[in-house]
Amino acid sequence: MRYGEGLLEEIRRRTDLVALVGRRVKLVRKGRVMWGCCPFHQEKSPSFKVENERRLYKCFGCGKGGDAFKWLIETEGLSFPESVEKLAAEVGVELPKWSPEDEAREQKRKSLYDIVELAAKFYEEQLFDAGGREARDYLKGRGLDGAAAKQFRLGYSPSGNGALIKHLTEHNVTQDDIIAAGLARPAEDGRPMRDFFYNRVMFPIGDGRGRIVAFGARALEADAKPKYINTGETALFSKGTQLYNFATARAAAIKAGTVIVAEGYMDVIALVRAGFAHSVAPLGTALTEDQLHLLWRTAPEPILAFDGDAAGLKAAHRAAHLALPHLKAGYSLRFAFLPGGEDPDSFIAGSGPGAMTVLLEAALPLSQLLWRTETEGKDLSTPERRAGLEHNLKEIVDRITDSKIADYYRRGFEQLVFESFKRRSAPADRDGTRYPGRSSTARTSKPGGKFRGDFKPRPLPGSPEAVSASVQSSALVRSGQAGARHAKEMELGRLLVESPEIALAQGESLAVLDLTDPSLDRLRHELLNLAASGSSLEKAGVQTHFTRKGMADLLVRFAGSAVEDPQASFQRAVADLRELTGHQTDARRLLERRKALSQRPGDGRGQ
Ligand code: UTP
Ligand code: MN
Repeated sequence: MRYGEGLLEEIRRRTDLVALVGRRVKLVRKGRVMWGCCPFHQEKSPSFKVENERRLYKCFGCGKGGDAFKWLIETEGLSFPESVEKLAAEVGVELPKWSPEDEAREQKRKSLYDIVELAAKFYEEQLFDAGGREARDYLKGRGLDGAAAKQFRLGYSPSGNGALIKHLTEHNVTQDDIIAAGLARPAEDGRPMRDFFYNRVMFPIGDGRGRIVAFGARALEADAKPKYINTGETALFSKGTQLYNFATARAAAIKAGTVIVAEGYMDVIALVRAGFAHSVAPLGTALTEDQLHLLWRTAPEPILAFDGDAAGLKAAHRAAHLALPHLKAGYSLRFAFLPGGEDPDSFIAGSGPGAMTVLLEAALPLSQLLWRTETEGKDLSTPERRAGLEHNLKEIVDRITDSKIADYYRRGFEQLVFESFKRRSAPADRDGTRYPGRSSTARTSKPGGKFRGDFKPRPLPGSPEAVSASVQSSALVRSGQAGARHAKEMELGRLLVESPEIALAQGESLAVLDLTDPSLDRLRHELLNLAASGSSLEKAGVQTHFTRKGMADLLVRFAGSAVEDPQASFQRAVADLRELTGHQTDARRLLERRKALSQRPGDGRGQ
């Protein structure tokens, strides 16, 4: 039986905790707090305190602590309901009656667990049976062997008509119960009752205690629609309040100090197998508030791992806004972005667990993600646009209900806006020597040295530097070309991320380009360095390199899709960009850059 929080609070409020604890422990008052020797471990001087005001006891020696219910559980060995009943009786709170219907419902839930467990076993057996061959091959093709299948209790739902129904009926399960467990569709329109899942790989979903309550199921064909189906809402399962792999991840999360939230079942499996046991996923829907609270019970700053494409960014934005009203001291979110088009499963397969670790470590705090989504790629050079930004930031702050946190966000944003705009009056950066990370600076500052990201600080997109750079390009805005130029630069960035070998083949024309976007400039710098150091510029390797160096944000920013002839597209984009900036390109600077370039070690490869 479940008691409402209001009822529990009423019992706590009426309980004299000091008196209750005082029955077992000798307590001495110091101010508002009572102290005594901890009953849970051996000690000579008191480090155990009890506070009626906060209705808590706590030992600073061994860490044990809790409320009145916990006290009875810990000292009298009662179960939670028993502790509630006992205290309620003592303080005169009447508990709601445990009705026969409640009893029946509880019985029913119990039998549903058994039924779903029976189904899980059946699917598991089917996977390793003759009929499961195709499913086994499918899993093998995705890098999952028998051991992996066993670890996650993967299964196969056969395509034969009503195989599970038949199996469960043989185990005396009624048709109603099979339907109630979400395992069959009822008979309708003259069709008999039929299995809900067939010809799919089965992913059992456990509840907080690890009991199987539902399934996710993936089609074997690549183009099947829907790709996944999931158990509908049942007495045991509600997709918005549970998480895939939660029971196992919870213990691991406490150890790891964080929890990773991926988007799919396959991602969680890949993460766990790569050593990230503290991984979970929502169940076919976007993250909900209930799931957020569940996550916060395991770790203060869950890391949400999203695909780096537009959909992933949108999902991140959505999750960020979902969290705002619920932020409380110490609790937040972080955001890790995978290179465009990748998910944790494909990324780990391609780049390895090490790259995944780096990417997770580089996860952005919530505050930075919000700043970035409000500023990145936006031209904020007019007073109206700046006011618009400030308006959006205020809306974000207004959604935060914790006043202290709201205050910090407000001040933080104010500072960022101030930093970003104060350089507006500084002379525009025309010759590329003022941005931190501008390649010409880096080149001349270390003559003959290797150019390995030896510039700093490295501005994040959305950081004050990046925004101030877009503000500084206001000369271009006035000339009406900023938009076109921005679009061209984004195109160049996408081409470079998609086909980094361009930096090898066309290094010189890349090096002399006049770029306004600091992220693109960083990308160019890094690629030219790689080319100069003789590294292969094959896409997967380059992506790993960027991720390892904590520059995955660049991959995200310029995520795109492959084009037919990247070299030709690049040349066209360069020509367009030159045209757009033609009047600014002066021969002297070009000459200087060429000279700098010719001093680079390994030069010549870049041709
Ligand atoms: P994705 O489409 O990102 O697929 O769905 P995936 O997990 O990478 O799948 P693979 O790698 O192709 O097997 C992410 C999650 O969204 C839910 C599932 O929970 C899935 O794991 N989903 C997706 C559905 O519920 N139905 C669908 O048709 C697709
Ligand atoms: Mn996937």
